[in-house]
Amino acid sequence: MSHKIAVLPGDGIGPEIVEQAQRVLGALGMDLETQTAAVGGAAFDEFEHPLPPATLELAKNSSAVLFGAVGDWKYDSLPREFRPEQAILGLRKALGLFANLRPAILYPQLANASSLKPEVVSGLDILIVRELTGDIYFGQPRGVRDVAEGPFKGEHQGFDTMHYADTEVRRIARVGFEAARKRGHKLCSVDKSNVLETSQFWRDIVTEVARDYPDVQLSHMYVDNAAMQLVRAPKEFDVIVTGNLFGDILSDEAAMLTGSIGMLPSASLNASNQGLYEPSHGSAPDIAGKNLANPLATILSAAMMLRYSLDADAQAKRIEAAVQSVLEQGLRTTDIYEEGSHKVSTSEMGDAVLKALK
Ligand code: IPM
Ligand code: MN
Repeated sequence: MSHKIAVLPGDGIGPEIVEQAQRVLGALGMDLETQTAAVGGAAFDEFEHPLPPATLELAKNSSAVLFGAVGDWKYDSLPREFRPEQAILGLRKALGLFANLRPAILYPQLANASSLKPEVVSGLDILIVRELTGDIYFGQPRGVRDVAEGPFKGEHQGFDTMHYADTEVRRIARVGFEAARKRGHKLCSVDKSNVLETSQFWRDIVTEVARDYPDVQLSHMYVDNAAMQLVRAPKEFDVIVTGNLFGDILSDEAAMLTGSIGMLPSASLNASNQGLYEPSHGSAPDIAGKNLANPLATILSAAMMLRYSLDADAQAKRIEAAVQSVLEQGLRTTDIYEEGSHKVSTSEMGDAVLKALK
């Protein structure tokens, strides 16, 4: 059966890293039908919208989306609805991609890349499961309004709304438990239930869902403490499940623990395993077009795509093994370069992965 894949390269380094991932996919000998469309700032330039209707249609009608990155400083002054970030938020919402999987893995070959002591991070392998279509990111109402009473009466105020419905918490909790079940059987749910009603509700539901997973050890942690524990003893964690905002922040922190965000893939899935796959890093406009970016996060995202949306685990493993192999060969793009290793460009890294696939 042929699988349809929407390829959305986007801005900055997006096109060059996606190109390498496409080469790798193309070399697997699978029946994949790819179609490319504009997204982000690049789409705004061409179609005056960061997520043009044709791009959205293509994404909806595909089994998976391979996404590069969006964003550039030059769009920062546009009204919010036209900024590149709206493309990714729009895709998440329109496709119902509520489950965001963000692994933070420290490859043994890159143990020195972390700013933390090797003994604290060596062998690190955690998975952050971030809820992606709810929370204060999408809660209504939001905006700017008049203050009717209190010390700031008569002024304007900016406001957003945080909320989570029962189903939203339940389904992401299940994703967290299921993932933990396939790994270290530990799930830590992160919230701020000492302050927020939304979080107390979240905690109660997660506790309820836990009854279906007696084999998984559930713990709860406040988000401020989780931020501390992630740098103190990150290896204590196995799977973390949390809301959209906390997950945004903690996943950046977790990525940095590895010292090589250029290596980390991510998957965003809906209930029918349709997914969007993108590197955890951004568009890096400062190095765009210079053949310097690390394509491995995108290549590994393509592997996640095979695993979760195309039911091709064996092919995913092939890609992951090839990435391991290029690291073992000492090949490094500038972001992970260290004394004694062999510096390669974006396209040379792609060449090496292709060669290692054989
Ligand atoms: C991410 C990004 C996005 C987010 C931005 C670009 C809207 O930071 O994917 O983590 O906040 O979710
Ligand atoms: Mn983020």
